[in-house]
Amino acid sequence: MVKKIYFPEIASTNDYASENIGSIEDRTVIFADIQTKGRGRNGRHWFSGKNNLSASLILKPQLNFSQVYKVNALVHYTAVVLARVFKKEYSIETRIKWPNDLMAGFKKIAGILIETVITGESLQGVIIGTGVNLNLDEKSLKKIGRPATSLNVLLGKEVNRDEFLDLFLKEFFLQYDELLMQGFSLIKEEYKLKSMTLGRAVKAAISGKEYSGIAKDIDDMGQLVLDCNNEEKIINTGDITC
Ligand code: BTN
Repeated sequence: MVKKIYFPEIASTNDYASENIGSIEDRTVIFADIQTKGRGRNGRHWFSGKNNLSASLILKPQLNFSQVYKVNALVHYTAVVLARVFKKEYSIETRIKWPNDLMAGFKKIAGILIETVITGESLQGVIIGTGVNLNLDEKSLKKIGRPATSLNVLLGKEVNRDEFLDLFLKEFFLQYDELLMQGFSLIKEEYKLKSMTLGRAVKAAISGKEYSGIAKDIDDMGQLVLDCNNEEKIINTGDITC
């Protein structure tokens, strides 16, 4: 059972979750109609129009410090879950741009911002911030400034946000416990099949240095393996362009 906390308007559901992590129960979702300061990955702004999905799922898995790395698999798992929902429930094919952007064609339809709150050696919680373009009009999509699309545009009709949220949560908890036990290997093959990055020429930054190469694999930790003129580079964080 997931507890839901709703706000008509909030600065950012991720900020609310991290500021109140101590008093929020495990398996709670915070969601809002409007975010005034929605945050994306790498300090970017996230455009959160009304009737989109702006939600943060708070999880408090019982992991000791040596097992905290297991939450990394949630980055990829959440993307796989969203791709499954788009396909199963709306017949929309999406691909995953490493590590966790959901793309319909070459346009972004959803993004995920995962944050962990750690005090000393103890994991207070994981915040899975999920933004899905459900009901954006063409004018708002243009304002985003990067190629983006929205589920209503692809379907030609309005999408019910609350229904989408329930479908997402249902799919998420189908394999959540298993994922925490098994890690990325549980979904590795499915993730690779849904990847739009593999096989492409990509650019990635590691410690301020830019590398160009062909994305040749995703390893057992969900890291991107680049072939840079026969030299292997492992990318574990940051953004890629392709
Ligand atoms: C990205 O692709 O850059 C990640 C976007 C994540 C946006 C969501 S919307 C709900 C949650 N609250 C935020 O401020 N950000 C995330």
